[in-house]
Amino acid sequence: MAFVTRAVKGTHDLFGKPLAYHRAIVDAARRWTEAAGAAEIATPIFEFTEVFERGVGPTSDIVQKEMFTFSDRAGRSLTLRPEGTAGVVRAYNEHGMKVWPQPVRLWYAGPMFRAERPQKGRQRQFHQVGYEVLGSDQAELDAEAVALSYHILASLGLRKMRLLLGSVGDPADRERYNAYLRELLAPHAARLSEDSRRRLVTNPMRILDSKNSGDRALLAELDVRPMLAFLGSEAKAHFEAVRARLDALGVPYEVDPSIVRGLDYYVRTSWEIHHDELGAQSALGGGGRYDGLSELLGGPPAPGVGWALGIERVALAMEAEGLSPAPLPALDLYVVPLEPALVPRALEVASRFWPDLRVQYALKARKPGKGLQEAEKKGARFAGLLGPDEATAGTLTVKDLETGEQHTLPLEEVREWVGKGGRA
Ligand code: HAM
Repeated sequence: MAFVTRAVKGTHDLFGKPLAYHRAIVDAARRWTEAAGAAEIATPIFEFTEVFERGVGPTSDIVQKEMFTFSDRAGRSLTLRPEGTAGVVRAYNEHGMKVWPQPVRLWYAGPMFRAERPQKGRQRQFHQVGYEVLGSDQAELDAEAVALSYHILASLGLRKMRLLLGSVGDPADRERYNAYLRELLAPHAARLSEDSRRRLVTNPMRILDSKNSGDRALLAELDVRPMLAFLGSEAKAHFEAVRARLDALGVPYEVDPSIVRGLDYYVRTSWEIHHDELGAQSALGGGGRYDGLSELLGGPPAPGVGWALGIERVALAMEAEGLSPAPLPALDLYVVPLEPALVPRALEVASRFWPDLRVQYALKARKPGKGLQEAEKKGARFAGLLGPDEATAGTLTVKDLETGEQHTLPLEEVREWVGKGGRA
């Protein structure tokens, strides 16, 4: 029975306090991105595998070993989305958003799937909120995106975070950097991990992101020059423009000259936001520019920039800083029928108040004392006693469980009193 009694490793049921965090984070993202004029988009949870193979890139760890891929009945390869950007760009192209007024700003929230080894802050099903701006390569948009990702986290109360900003250059810059790394590392290939030996051929920059201790030791010895030293004049000018705009906006960041993002589509601006108290999985979110992605997915040129925040990690960071989300809404009123024949009437009374008030009713007749106790256990602010007199008169005897105040009132007055939270 083990397979029907527990969730799959790396996946979680979301309810109670974790769900309250989740809601608060999505609400903050919605507020800030919609303030910047973004429209919400929800793309499918699975796509043709090529969308991610081409989009996220064949040399990324995600495509190499972390995708949940399966065949449909016709034998086509499908993949649970490991991230949101490739699907959003696919949708931008499919729906001809290129002819909309540019740039197009989109935000999204939802589950993502990566077959990683689960640990604190790392699940196989996790959730992201994300923001993508398509159709322009102006530096204002990089700065806007960075600023929004920062403001959302700051608005949740987070303080112990660091925004690391870098640039991975244009494709030609990266080729030069990869050639440099190959030359530097090839004589030491025997000391590299198996993964990194493969990366030496496919994409040497990925070695810089290796967690393997032998790889790390070798990199430390070799005094590797950072990507930022290899920027061409255009990427450099763009980076300086982004920095100037962020400075003007007052967004605090540190330049990280050797930032390496885990996805292949990035060009130019790249950033990550880390939290000091999260341990090994410290990235709350990351983003960057991806000007060639649309063409990789068979579309017209459509430069873009965006980010995603990991909801579970942001929740962990909030917890670490002692920040609680607003509690999930509690019941306003609990209606207690005092006789079995009045249970259907209790349902009628409750439904009369929906959706203005949050109202539940007891499914069995209760004595008044027991009914009040039950109302308290349910976390209701008010209890409404429904006896034969109340049923005949169309009233309810309502008690404010905080103040003890009690009145028998016609239903419309109950709505008013309870609606004001008893402060009438
Ligand atoms: P990413 O850096 O791969 O970027 O993921 C963004 C965030 O998602 C991470 O910083 C982390 O907080 C969270 N995350 C990633 N993997 C896991 C996991 N296994 N468990 C829990 N949280 C996780 C992207 O996904 C890009 N699509 C961001 C982007 C949008 N770039 C441009 N536009």
